[in-house]
Amino acid sequence: MASKIFLWGIFFSASSVILSIRDIWNHIPCNEEYHPPNCDFRELNLVTLDDYDRCGPAMLPLNARNYFLGAAGRRITYMKNKNEFDKIEVVPRMLRDVSKNTLETSTLGIQLDFPIGLSPVALHKLADPRGELATVEGISPFRTIMILSSMATTLIEDVGQAAQHTNITLWMQTYIFDNRTWTLELVRRAERAGFKGVVVTADAPVDGTITCDGRQSIGESDGELIVNLDITQHKLSPSATFKDIAWLRSFTKLPIIVKGILSGDDATRAIMAGASAILVSNHGGRQMDGDPATINALPGVVDAVNRMFPRRDVFLDGGIRRGTDVYKALARGRRWFSWEDPSSGDSLLMGQLV
Ligand SMILES: Cc1cc2nc3c(=O)[nH]c(=O)nc-3n(C[C@H](O)[C@H](O)[C@H](O)COP(=O)(O)O)c2cc1C
Repeated sequence: MASKIFLWGIFFSASSVILSIRDIWNHIPCNEEYHPPNCDFRELNLVTLDDYDRCGPAMLPLNARNYFLGAAGRRITYMKNKNEFDKIEVVPRMLRDVSKNTLETSTLGIQLDFPIGLSPVALHKLADPRGELATVEGISPFRTIMILSSMATTLIEDVGQAAQHTNITLWMQTYIFDNRTWTLELVRRAERAGFKGVVVTADAPVDGTITCDGRQSIGESDGELIVNLDITQHKLSPSATFKDIAWLRSFTKLPIIVKGILSGDDATRAIMAGASAILVSNHGGRQMDGDPATINALPGVVDAVNRMFPRRDVFLDGGIRRGTDVYKALARGRRWFSWEDPSSGDSLLMGQLV
C-alpha cells in the first residue's frame, strides 16, 4: 500500500472556526473593534465558513482575536499557505463511475470517517469557556483524530476522559523542552490518559514573533490559562535535533509524528530517527515568515518519503479553508506515488476539521 496524504487543518469547531476569520484580512486591525452586520447565527439559513470569517471576530475580545489571527512577520507565509491553493486548477475526468464513493480511510491503524483531523491549537479557552472540552464535544460524533496542544487550557486527563466514549482518537502534541524530563512527563501523562500518538513539533526551537499588523508584536496571551505545564519554567529547547526524536522513540511505544517538516531531507531524517509519520506544516505561518507554502512543500516531502519509506503517511496543514483545498492537496501529493499502487486510490481527503 502506498503512503497516504492527510491534510490537517482547522475548519470547523469552536476554536478553529474562529481561526478561519483570518482569511478576511491581510493585516490585523490591532486595536479596532469589529461589528459586522447580519451576524445572528440563528437567522442565517446556511452557516458557512464565510459567515464565520465575517462574524467571528466580533465574538472575541481583542486580545483573543489578535492571538488567533496573528502570524509571523509580514504574514507572507500565512497568506501564501492559503493563496497557493487558489492557484491550483483541477482538471476533472468525465464519465467515470462515481456512484460508489467513501471518504473513509485509515492511518496508523486508526479507522477514520474522513481524512480530516484537528491540528493542535493552544488556548482554546480564549475562544470558548469550556476550552478543549467543547472541541471534543463538537467532533465527538466522528471517527477523527484530535491533536491536543501542549499549551492546552484543559488537563490532559480531562480531555482523555471526555473523549473516552466517543469516536475520537487523541494524539498529544509536545515540543522538545529544554528540560527533557518534562517533555517525557507530558508524554507519560498522555499515555496514561489513553492518547494514541505523540506529535513532536519541530519548527519551534524558539518562540515565533507573532505580529498584529505586520509590525506590532502581539504580547503573551493569557499564559496563565495553560494548565499542563508551567510556561514560566518550560522553555523550548533551541538545541533540539533529530537525536531527540530517537531519544523519545526509545521511551514510548506510541507512534511519533513529526510536525513542522518542509523538506524531503528533513522528512527522511525524522523517519530514520523513529517517526512513524510526517506532518508537513509551517505552523500556519506563525513561526518563520518566508517559509514555503505547505502545499508547495508537500510534493518534495511525499517524493522523498515514498522513495525511502513507501508505507509512511504524510499529513499536511496550513491554509486549508474548504473541501476543494483538501482534494487539491490529495491530488498534488498522490501525483508522486500513485504509480506504486494504483489500488490505493481510496486514499484520503484530509483537511482540517474543527
Ligand atoms: C492560534 C494558534 C495556536 C496554535 N498552537 C499550536 C500549538 O500549540 N502547537 C503546535 O504544534 N501548533 C500550533 N499551531 C499551529 C497549528 O497546529 C497548524 O500548524 C496551523 O494552524 C495550520 O495553519 P492554518 O491555521 O492556516 O490551518 C497553532 C496555530 C494557531 C493559529
